[in-house]
Amino acid sequence: MATRLLYISQSGNTRAFIQKLIAYADTHPGPTFEAVEINDLTPDNHETSDYFAFVPTYLDGGNGIDNGVKEILTNALADYLAYGNNPRHLIGVVGSGNKNFNAQYVLTAKRYAQMFDAPLVGDFELRGTATDVVRIYDALSQTLAATN
Ligand SMILES: Cc1cc2nc3c(=O)[nH]c(=O)nc-3n(C[C@H](O)[C@H](O)[C@H](O)COP(=O)(O)O)c2cc1C
Repeated sequence: MATRLLYISQSGNTRAFIQKLIAYADTHPGPTFEAVEINDLTPDNHETSDYFAFVPTYLDGGNGIDNGVKEILTNALADYLAYGNNPRHLIGVVGSGNKNFNAQYVLTAKRYAQMFDAPLVGDFELRGTATDVVRIYDALSQTLAATN
């Protein structure tokens, strides 16, 4: 069964990365994945099997160190992950962002990993490179192998 990759994407980078990851998985022996995009209109739904979350970073104020964070545009994913028993099935978080944001790089994914008690299994910038795709695929595969 393909493992669900839940994600949110405002400008398409995370969506593009996940498409590349799924294409890679389909040509490679090992686990396969299914993309599940969450947006503001997605009804809350009970996840019934282990899944990963892909989380881009959108902050509008706050440095995450000593004055908090103001998260924008990704809140629908946090709400979905928090729904019912969904936190229990979350086995890993992948963060994306832009390193120009320095200490705030992939901060939302780090916060979700802590909030939902799941490991941060990797990160990539923007749409990611071909090397990132392989690296994240390997990290997801290892997490799945350790979970099952
Ligand atoms: C308003 C705004 C705020 C952002 N804040 C951060 C940030 O704090 N840390 C970070 O790593 N990236 C930040 N980014 C970069 C995005 O996370 C990055 O472009 C990501 O690839 C967007 O994913 P998406 O296209 O799937 O929505 C920000 C981008 C925008 C437009």
